[in-house]
Amino acid sequence: MTCRSIEPLLKRLGLAALLALAATACAGADKPEFTAAELSRIAAHGPWPLPWMADPGNRVSGNASAIRLGYALFFEPRLSANRRVACASCHDPARGFQDGRTVARGLVTGTRNTPGLLNVRHQRWFGWDGGHDNLWSASLRPILDPREMGGKASRVARVLRSKSTLDCHYAGAFGKRPDAGDPELLVNVAKAIAAWQETRGSPATPFDEFRDALQRGDAQTAAAYPAAAQRGLRIFVGRGQCATCHAGPLFSNGEFGDIGMPFFIKPNGVDPGRQGGIKRLLANPYNLLGAYNDDATRNNATGTKFLRPEHRNFGEFKVPSLRNLTLTAPYMHNGSLATLREVVRHYSELDEDRLHADGERILKPLHLSEEESSDLVAFLESLSPAAPLPAPVVPPIVAACR
Ligand code: HEC
Ligand code: HEC
Repeated sequence: MTCRSIEPLLKRLGLAALLALAATACAGADKPEFTAAELSRIAAHGPWPLPWMADPGNRVSGNASAIRLGYALFFEPRLSANRRVACASCHDPARGFQDGRTVARGLVTGTRNTPGLLNVRHQRWFGWDGGHDNLWSASLRPILDPREMGGKASRVARVLRSKSTLDCHYAGAFGKRPDAGDPELLVNVAKAIAAWQETRGSPATPFDEFRDALQRGDAQTAAAYPAAAQRGLRIFVGRGQCATCHAGPLFSNGEFGDIGMPFFIKPNGVDPGRQGGIKRLLANPYNLLGAYNDDATRNNATGTKFLRPEHRNFGEFKVPSLRNLTLTAPYMHNGSLATLREVVRHYSELDEDRLHADGERILKPLHLSEEESSDLVAFLESLSPAAPLPAPVVPPIVAACR
């Protein structure tokens, strides 16, 4: 008999004294003994953080002038048509660069949930539909998009020239002054904003400490990880099959799936997801096949080169990272699930008819008990840092621009 099953039994029998005794004896018990196969699956979710690597497609990746410029522009509402919308209006640093809304609201209300941007540099594709294959073009779209900021080159150039530090950092990064007539102006600005976003990662979490302790054989540290999270982890890497898609240190395989979320948009639209994303990506002059990719080898463009929209891509959305979830509610591409509890219920009660028509074959309704659902939620929560994140450090003004 396990500790979890003895408790309700004692309660039913009204044995209060024994119940208190059992509670003491059971503290620390009911933690799963992981099998060797489970241990190696757990190990595959680390180590964290991942090492820094410059983006070969962005020549100012890691450049101090670009990082400082990108930081300033991320918070700059004057880039937008009404001078009121900045990147940070939707991507709030205090919320893991999310906005807490169901769907984003810029110049107008959109149809998709704002993704958080912590660890964004580790992504393979950008946007819920993978409409971008690199971070700088994903950063250029919102500046121009009439629904988000509705900006244009002349306005961007004016903002850059309005402050000597902006002007100077632009020159430091790109070797010329900002000029509205320069076809590279907007892409350069986007590369600078990307360079700053690349510096935004998230620290190790209670899960990471547990995973590392298991690796070292450090039972004492491992014991500090709550039993509920351990049981949830076992469901995650086992019966739930969650780790098939939410794989690796980022908890995403970087690809796309259909988990049975509705793709209808009120009143009568449809979000084609990945299928539309591939079409937009291939038509975009700022993709990695285009002239603005700074990787001379073009090795970074191979994935894009062979991409074609297929029928099965309809209604697929990007497998999101599961790090920092406690900062980034609500969830899913349309923000339709408000809490992690609701997400777990979705996977527990999946509609098989809908899934077998379009969705992923590995997904089956899990029919989790209340306790198992709480365990899985406890595990998902343990993928966020235990303490609130400090505000981003302001990158220093480079010496030449002081
Ligand atoms: C109106 C709110 C809003 C504003 C303003 C905004 N974004 Fe976003 N951002 C979104 C939404 C919504 C998405 C998802 C878009 C999609 O799936 O097509 C997104 C996606 C992204 C992504 C892709 C992230 C990922 O995980 O795939 C990046 C990068 C990004 N935005 C950066 C920026 C930058 C840089 C700016 C400023 C130049 C900006 N955003 C302005 C709402 C906004
Ligand atoms: C077949 C691949 C696949 C499997 C298996 C899978 N997921 Fe997902 N998951 C996705 C996709 C794709 C989305 C985004 C769907 C959308 O927005 O329409 C997602 C979204 C989520 C989200 C929302 C994250 C956010 O930021 O919005 C959470 C949490 C989540 N999954 C947890 C789980 C758990 C727990 C399991 C196991 C019970 C699981 N997933 C199994 C593919 C998968």
